[in-house]
Amino acid sequence: MHFKLAFIGYGTVAQGLTEIILEKKELLEKKYNFSASVVAISDFKKGSVYDENGLDMEKILDFVKNGKKIDEYPSGIKGYDSLKTIKDTGADTIVEVTYTDVKTGEPAITHIKAALEAGKNVVSTNKGPVVKQAIDLLKLAKEKNVQYNFEGVVLAGTPAINLVEYTLAGNQINGFKGILNGTTNYILTKMEEGMTYENALTKAQELGYAEADPTGDVEGLDALGKVVILTNVVLGKNIGWQDVKRKGITKISKKDIEDAKLQGMRWKLIGSAEIQKDGSVKASVKPVKLPMDDPLAGVNKATNALTFYTDELGPVTIVGPGAGKRETGFSLLIDLLNINRKLSCK
Ligand code: HSE
Repeated sequence: MHFKLAFIGYGTVAQGLTEIILEKKELLEKKYNFSASVVAISDFKKGSVYDENGLDMEKILDFVKNGKKIDEYPSGIKGYDSLKTIKDTGADTIVEVTYTDVKTGEPAITHIKAALEAGKNVVSTNKGPVVKQAIDLLKLAKEKNVQYNFEGVVLAGTPAINLVEYTLAGNQINGFKGILNGTTNYILTKMEEGMTYENALTKAQELGYAEADPTGDVEGLDALGKVVILTNVVLGKNIGWQDVKRKGITKISKKDIEDAKLQGMRWKLIGSAEIQKDGSVKASVKPVKLPMDDPLAGVNKATNALTFYTDELGPVTIVGPGAGKRETGFSLLIDLLNINRKLSCK
């Protein structure tokens, strides 16, 4: 199938997806019968452009790398805002990758609703809408007979949501436990190696793991959002922000880390949820001192890991990147290929 994409937001992740699609063009066509053109981009800071015949994405990437605005693209219609880009362009699939606000979910919720209402598929790495309204948005997509896919909201392109949806299908998932935030895992690893908390945080920001406001990482809010998402989407429950107990890593001192090391243990920020006998859910984000033989204890730096507790297989653990330009961009390709597969089967 050929997809006509519109990017809402054109930051690092959007550029990561663009690079992958350009570099893997032949493979994607040959192996999956998938091709895509980008007909529109609207970015709050970089400007917008629409050309129904498709944009030259090599040129767009070049523009962005050189700090030029998308507005400076030599042809096409300029000045469309995000909603006009969603509704009034020929795009059939909207790539929603604007700034994540996990507290309100906006403006991404408005974008995604508008796209689904207009009968367009949505692929997105935006956590906010999934934290706030996953169930309603998925229902709306179903009503409109379109897809809303968001593999990248947890563990970036390391398959977590699709793993449960497809590969582990048929299992009852009773809970999960994971290292869901790369920044804090990086900081804890580096502190164990002797770096100060402040220097490790600065380094995590330089490497692009941390959120725009890293408070969300170190206080456990980012991990909390992912616990809410996994509980609702994977465990099939309906919890909100307030239902998850939270403690970040800011109170973990160098001494705590050294003491743990002497005991053959390691601190990790763990997000978890477990279905209780009465059907309720117990969910939390907190630093946990793990013995070295716990599979999560050996997961270091910015790497994420997630164990699902399944009825047929027992614990199943996946380990991989949870952030990064290409790693998160790739999650959008997983989503697009899934839509391609579904539509090809129709
Ligand atoms: N700030 C997040 C992290 C990015 O450090 O894991 C991915 O959600």
